[in-house]
Amino acid sequence: MKPILLILAATLPVATAAPDGKQLFTMNCSACHLLDQMVVGPSLVEMRGIYDGKPDEFVKWSIAPQKKRPGAIDMPSMVHVGEEGLRAIYAHVMEVSKGAVEKKAEKGDPYAASPTQAARPQVMRIFMPDASPASIAVALDDINSLCWDAGSSRLRYAWTGGFIDGFPYWKGNGNGLAKLLGPVRYTEETSPFGADAEVKFLGYRLEGGLPVFRYTVAGRMVTESYAPVAEGMGFVRSFTVVTPEPLVLDFPEQSGVTVAADKGKLEGGKLALTPAEAAAFTLTFSLK
Ligand code: HEC
Repeated sequence: MKPILLILAATLPVATAAPDGKQLFTMNCSACHLLDQMVVGPSLVEMRGIYDGKPDEFVKWSIAPQKKRPGAIDMPSMVHVGEEGLRAIYAHVMEVSKGAVEKKAEKGDPYAASPTQAARPQVMRIFMPDASPASIAVALDDINSLCWDAGSSRLRYAWTGGFIDGFPYWKGNGNGLAKLLGPVRYTEETSPFGADAEVKFLGYRLEGGLPVFRYTVAGRMVTESYAPVAEGMGFVRSFTVVTPEPLVLDFPEQSGVTVAADKGKLEGGKLALTPAEAAAFTLTFSLK
């Protein structure tokens, strides 16, 4: 499984100008490393004990992790973060672990609960059911979550209830799939830009903990960002598309799903937009 993980990781560039150690840590490491207790991997306190004053060794480990602790899963290589990014993560780890003390380990998956219970990442790269291995799980709030597939640059599905239980995945050295903690209520079979759309994933950044995905469709820049609905089940999805021509996007009608668009004409599951409207528009998906 390990070589496959390496290749997939390389297809998920992280969009940052100057590397932000804290953000890079959240996106790439926080799923398995907590400040002061061993979960899937050792705590930052333990890392500090081993790597304080040794940034080169820290980077080396992160690019080519070893099998060291009995019973722990294999840490996937973090080569996709890049040396500069790993150095920024190193600085962040050393900074936040200063003066912190190790707590006793707890049993089970510390993340298998409502997303807001712990200061948990809202965005997690993990193997998800019914999606390509390059998937990103996003918890919008307590009840609304979605799976965005970086492999095909599109939303796969949204579910409600709890977020995910990552333990089957971590325990299986990447073979297992994360388990959704609630029913899927919305699915998309193809990209709204069309099944044959030529898409290229460019990465994502976090704004207020929520992801903004960037990709191109037939060479045109697209951003797609997500936010929770004010109340109840659903999600708000905002696009920016740079296009010289009018655009028609597919959001096939589904039972239990009501879609509203703030721009363009939405009819029979098709949203028609002028280039000016396509520059920034928002859809609200209400789920039943
Ligand atoms: C999927 C889970 C996972 C992710 C994500 C992950 N790690 Fe790890 N990490 C582990 C595990 C498991 C170990 C312990 C491996 C062992 O000891 O055999 C570990 C160990 C480490 C260690 C200790 C090395 C040592 O010498 O003992 C460091 C440092 C580390 N990880 C850094 C990182 C950094 C930096 C990132 C993000 C860029 C990251 N890890 C992402 C699971 C992960």
